[in-house]
Amino acid sequence: MSSPTSEDGPVSDNIVRAAGAVDGARRREVFGHAGATVWFTGLSGSGKSTIAYAVEDALVAAGVHAYVLDGDNVRFGLNRDLGFSPGDRTENIRRIGEVCRLFTDAGTVVLSAFISPYRADRDRVRALHADAAPPTPFVEVFVDTPLEVCEARDVKGLYARARAGEIPGFSGVSAPYEPPTDPELRLDTSARELDGCVAAVLATLRERGILDRA
Ligand code: ADX
Repeated sequence: MSSPTSEDGPVSDNIVRAAGAVDGARRREVFGHAGATVWFTGLSGSGKSTIAYAVEDALVAAGVHAYVLDGDNVRFGLNRDLGFSPGDRTENIRRIGEVCRLFTDAGTVVLSAFISPYRADRDRVRALHADAAPPTPFVEVFVDTPLEVCEARDVKGLYARARAGEIPGFSGVSAPYEPPTDPELRLDTSARELDGCVAAVLATLRERGILDRA
């Protein structure tokens, strides 16, 4: 599928940006926290969604507007026209990145859980957040669980099928995964319990000044 990248301008020249009176500072004052994108990246079965949902639970309990975007779920709806070719994965991440930026503008802490195997695609999403008020409201969390552990878990039975040649281009098996070089946080779920992972994410959000009253 060929699609525009986020560097491209819109197809039409005849559109103009609109803006309302409510800015980020006002939302922050009313909500008690800033909006932000917490971008979990890692192999299938690494624990991205499990951590993201547990962080969501903790944040909502603390009165923070938080929401998980999960790879499989988004592929049932917004991105149901996309498969797993390199071009489709890039387009998947481009769209999700734009959605995350919208959530961030809306004052939500959005927790995105996608393999997002290409470094350039993730860096484009980071760049998309760069014009927001500093510090940049983008936190990359590398869920660095070893492939052997993800494969041993094989929660969805997909690794076994990929090894049997039934799923071509499977990340970590027959398609690349490019690890982040400088993530804000690195978690190995084979070495740290879920509670510890959640605490580390919350601590990172606090350090970055995203949670004022939570
Ligand atoms: S991404 O590479 O485009 O970021 P995404 O996170 O949306 O992937 O979807 C990954 C999920 O799709 C995996 O957790 C797995 O359940 C499923 N899946 C199906 N086919 C593949 C494949 N070829 N490679 C990786 N994951 C796949």
